[in-house]
Amino acid sequence: MTPTTITAGNDANASAEPTYPMARTCPFDPPAELAQLRAEKPITRIRLWDGSSPWLVTRYDDVRNLLADPRVSADTLLPNYPFPSPGLRARRRASRSFIGMDDPDHARLRKMIISDFTVRGTESLRPLVEKLVNDLLDAMERGPRPVDLVEAFALPLPSMVICHMLGVPYADHDFFQDHSRAILDITADPQETVRANDELRDYLTTLIAEKEAEPTDDILGRLAQRYVVTGRLSRSDAATMGLLLLVAGHETTANMIAFGTLTLLEHPEQAAEVRDGDTAVVKSAVEELLRLLTVVHTGRRRVALEDIEIGGVTIRAGEGIITAGESANRDPSAFESPDELDIHRGSNHHVAFGFGVHQCLGQPLARLELQIAYPALLRRFPDLHLAVPLEEIRYRDKMVVYGVQELPVSW
Ligand code: HEM
Repeated sequence: MTPTTITAGNDANASAEPTYPMARTCPFDPPAELAQLRAEKPITRIRLWDGSSPWLVTRYDDVRNLLADPRVSADTLLPNYPFPSPGLRARRRASRSFIGMDDPDHARLRKMIISDFTVRGTESLRPLVEKLVNDLLDAMERGPRPVDLVEAFALPLPSMVICHMLGVPYADHDFFQDHSRAILDITADPQETVRANDELRDYLTTLIAEKEAEPTDDILGRLAQRYVVTGRLSRSDAATMGLLLLVAGHETTANMIAFGTLTLLEHPEQAAEVRDGDTAVVKSAVEELLRLLTVVHTGRRRVALEDIEIGGVTIRAGEGIITAGESANRDPSAFESPDELDIHRGSNHHVAFGFGVHQCLGQPLARLELQIAYPALLRRFPDLHLAVPLEEIRYRDKMVVYGVQELPVSW
């Protein structure tokens, strides 16, 4: 196929460019327009909030190929980096952690904490996660009905776990949860995003300074002693890394727990299998929910470092790229009946955790929490059901991480 080149921001084509992200029609599915693009224009220009027009990549193979391509950069300081919102662009310098860097810097920083996030490292947390799950379910059982599952279970569980790992006092959860929410709201006033980001980073900077003076056996404590005290990492860079881990460590999993539970409640037969099934069924159900829901739903953002020919187009060096994992995970060429929940789906190479060198560091932890949380919840409350009509559920359309705002349930 002969490659065609489309010039960035070409005004003649501007009105033809769809805006991204698009609105959902069904809250359980990515926008229908994405499916249409995937079928008709799998690599195409789209228009962002700032009028820029990066490439949107919607097919599974193209998404994986680009995310694994060393000619593609995740560096948020590059001029055409396609930010999801003015607020996230405004905080780019103050919050640039390794997720927004390329190797070797990315690898150097990621390596400092990788041992805490390996499958083996995370497995040691199993007794803690099981205890926290049980305690939260006990409290739910004792408390009033209906209850908001987000507040009572989905949000506290991953927050408590990441606090334990990092050495952040869980007592400060209102503070860091509110600030994380403000950072991830793509409709927020940019000043509000920057303020939330700065306050959360200041909080972590103080905590790290304390851990420099008084060693603690947790991730931030080890970062402080091994790297900050020895001059290999600035306190401020350690705080930025802490911010990434704290935010990514609770928002994503919390939304998977709540939205995943709602999805299971809408599929009672499969929910019963998760409740009564063995480990293999639960594992497979978790992967399927990760694929189907793809809660990190506004694409992985990148910039081309060189001209790249792909799918009949040439992406020029310096142009922005958005690889839409939410679309890739529904690509019929990669998954049979991709819009259906099938907890027995065989091999499930979804890209809900991204792909390539930036693939989610916390995925063993997320899997551990989800594999424990769903069956424990369904076993404790076999009769779990929505306490309001489905139509009344409000969704997180304006957030970087999608899900439900509240989930009133009873049993
Ligand atoms: C179900 C839960 C989760 C989902 C769906 C998820 C999703 C993702 C995705 C899609 C990426 C790739 C970003 C990119 O390529 O630009 C990512 C990266 C990352 N995630 Fe997660 N994540 C989850 C849980 C967690 C947890 C529990 C942590 C723990 C701290 C975590 C920490 C990170 C970090 C540090 C990165 C950056 C990795 C790098 O740049 O090398 N995530 N995550």
